[in-house]
Amino acid sequence: MSLVEEATRIAREFDYPAEQVQRGVSEYIRQLNEGLAKENTTLSQIPTFVTAVPNGTEKGLYLAVDLGGTNFRVCSVQLHGDTTFSLTQSKIMIPRELMASGTSKDLFLFLARQIESFLRIHHNEHFEAHLRRRLDGNHEQDLFDLGFTFSFPVRQFGINSGTLIRWTKGFNIPDAVGHDVCALLQSAIDELQLPVRVAALVNDTVGTLMARSYTSPGETGTFLGAIFGTGTNGAYVEKLDKITKLQHMKDAHYDKSTGEMIINAEWGSFDNHLSVLPSTVYDHDLDAESNNPGVQMFEKRVSGMFLGEILRRALLAIHNNPKLAIFKASETSKVSLPSDSLFYRQWGLDTSLLSQVEADTTKDYVDVKAALKDHLKIENPSNDECEAVKILVHAIGKRAARLSAVPLAAILIDAGKLDSDDVVDVGVDGSLVEFYPNFEGYMREALREVPQVGDAGNKKIRIGISKDGSGVGAALIALVASKDETLHTPHKE
Ligand code: BGC
Repeated sequence: MSLVEEATRIAREFDYPAEQVQRGVSEYIRQLNEGLAKENTTLSQIPTFVTAVPNGTEKGLYLAVDLGGTNFRVCSVQLHGDTTFSLTQSKIMIPRELMASGTSKDLFLFLARQIESFLRIHHNEHFEAHLRRRLDGNHEQDLFDLGFTFSFPVRQFGINSGTLIRWTKGFNIPDAVGHDVCALLQSAIDELQLPVRVAALVNDTVGTLMARSYTSPGETGTFLGAIFGTGTNGAYVEKLDKITKLQHMKDAHYDKSTGEMIINAEWGSFDNHLSVLPSTVYDHDLDAESNNPGVQMFEKRVSGMFLGEILRRALLAIHNNPKLAIFKASETSKVSLPSDSLFYRQWGLDTSLLSQVEADTTKDYVDVKAALKDHLKIENPSNDECEAVKILVHAIGKRAARLSAVPLAAILIDAGKLDSDDVVDVGVDGSLVEFYPNFEGYMREALREVPQVGDAGNKKIRIGISKDGSGVGAALIALVASKDETLHTPHKE
């Protein structure tokens, strides 16, 4: 068997045909409803206590911070009240040791210090005025309300409190699990005596939904916000009477007048027990050797944190096959792969390589070669080797995009959103939808294959990139929370 034939054979293992998409959608609907009724289900379906989406007229100055990937972002957002906003931000990489081996105290103090330097640079006047008032014994005046975008599964108890269920995306600080992350951030902020009140806890998908709804054109609010980036997840507007598990949360306080609440689906954990998700040996081994085996099983097939590793494992299998030659120098091949290449390292292959490879339309693989060299120090690959990489990238990326249609179709069908002629607005963000060529196209192809969606339904779905969900979206939720005086109780663990 030739190299290209073997790559084609493996690529077929990533096929995700229409009937499997349809089975996925039915099972998603089942797990969705189970998650609305009780706790500890595979789809968490977390009530966020946000009960309305914005319409673009909201106004004010808010702070927002964002913890959820490799960078920590601090921003201040001025909402102008006419669907526009201005945003000032700073971004800093989170040191590896704080992500995975330190204590929660170290991490949250680090975050509070970033907020402090941001305030000193961009809002120094306000900051100094606050310090002067403090000396006069007047602590509560003029606090900044802050929206805390924390993009991990959290069990929420209100708009401004929630305990961490588990870390995802490579974070692992065990002493934070089970604790209220707003309280942790507030104590660090108080330790540094900053003029900031943590007003709202925000998942990035909820922020994306809110930001899209604030900025999007037209009368209708946005229905769903989704992230296809390092991780994947979605949030949508659910009818209050369907969220029956709320009845067990007696102390929960929220505005019931809209009859709706945004649900954070945490769809990264759809079908953790693998009743319908497709699985290859590469998926299996990736999970077994990850730091959270058995959870985030949908995310491990769809999002940026994992696609590079799936590809690396598939290529490594061919590389290690004595009968085949990929990236092995020989009399006929001048290819070089140094022993310190990230090709040999777990998580060494960044998903941006997939986007670069998929985008290559040249016949002599110019971009594939550049990507292999830049990411993996592989030089002089043959055309067959490049073709094998392309075949696998395409298969893995396309499966991810087709899988992404499953939660989308299921949520729209279950909410009856395709029954009328109205447009359904969806805001999306993340490196995959933004940079992987035709990600939305493959997703839409799979959507059309779901009979309850079809061509007509697909046309009603308006998908738009919603940037800055974690800034603008968080500011909008801080606004809602700051207007609700009953929420202004101090955060204490
Ligand atoms: C987290 C979600 C988050 C998503 C996208 C997942 O790993 O569990 O809370 O929304 O990543 O960032």
